[in-house]
Amino acid sequence: MAVLEVKAYAKLNLSLDVLGKRPDGYHDMRMVMQTVSLSDDIRLETGTGRPLRMESNLGFLPANESNLAAAAALRLCEAAGADAGGLSIDLEKTIPVCAGLAGGSADAAAVLRGMNKLLGLGLPGERLEEIGALVGSDVPYCVRGGTVLAEGRGEILTDLPLLPHCLVVLCKPAFSVSTPELFRSLDGCRIRRRPDTAGLLAALEQGDLPGVARRMYNVFEDALPARRAQEIDAIKNVMIQHGALGASMSGTGPTVFGLFTQREAAQGAWAALKEQYPETFLAERMGNLLEQV
Ligand code: C5P
Repeated sequence: MAVLEVKAYAKLNLSLDVLGKRPDGYHDMRMVMQTVSLSDDIRLETGTGRPLRMESNLGFLPANESNLAAAAALRLCEAAGADAGGLSIDLEKTIPVCAGLAGGSADAAAVLRGMNKLLGLGLPGERLEEIGALVGSDVPYCVRGGTVLAEGRGEILTDLPLLPHCLVVLCKPAFSVSTPELFRSLDGCRIRRRPDTAGLLAALEQGDLPGVARRMYNVFEDALPARRAQEIDAIKNVMIQHGALGASMSGTGPTVFGLFTQREAAQGAWAALKEQYPETFLAERMGNLLEQV
């Protein structure tokens, strides 16, 4: 038997634009993605000699192939013609679920990176990303990590200069959002405002953190019901009042994040929000993940 512990890191959208609906039912996206240190812990054990076993600290998560982590393990073995000899996956979730942080995709990506190492498959990152695309649209990015432009369904990736060092406060309101539903409501409305993605890319090239923070925007904020949008704005305002350079919603939400340069300011925002929102976290931005596992 062989054991490996891997971390699965959450992602944020520094910007998110939906360009249009495709004939295959998906949407073409243009998103600037960023990995943060908020993470789940995964323990992988191969050679158990028993059927796939999966367990998590959250009882309501599926413990079979409908969990992206298990689906990723199966896809990897299929694609590489490998046999784990019985696999056990233990998942300790910290990343909030259904929160716009790609928690499930991050777990799947960590399983791909971890199993590649554990089974000594030696697959290159691009191959792991291709296999990840079979599991979910955000998985290829989560395999790679760092600061990346994601286009197409989310699987066409271009590396960008790493976001300058900063602290990130993440705050998840109590409501949850259904991704397919939010895409549908976006289809039904005219997008009034779009992120300045070109300006954001130029700011990244210049290492200009305030320039990046100023341009963060997510078109899904426009598709939220008014009451939800107000709550998102209120959380953003708390972050800005505590010194955030900028704040935005991540993915299909509802998690809001703010970027900070000063630790005291970030801690102040964290403490102010934590009282009302138990799922509030303080994290740091992280770079490429393929170099780590
Ligand atoms: O690829 P994934 O299974 O994560 O996507 C979940 C759902 O999100 C899809 O069924 C689709 O409704 C929506 N989606 C989309 N366009 C994308 C990614 C996801 O419409 N680029």
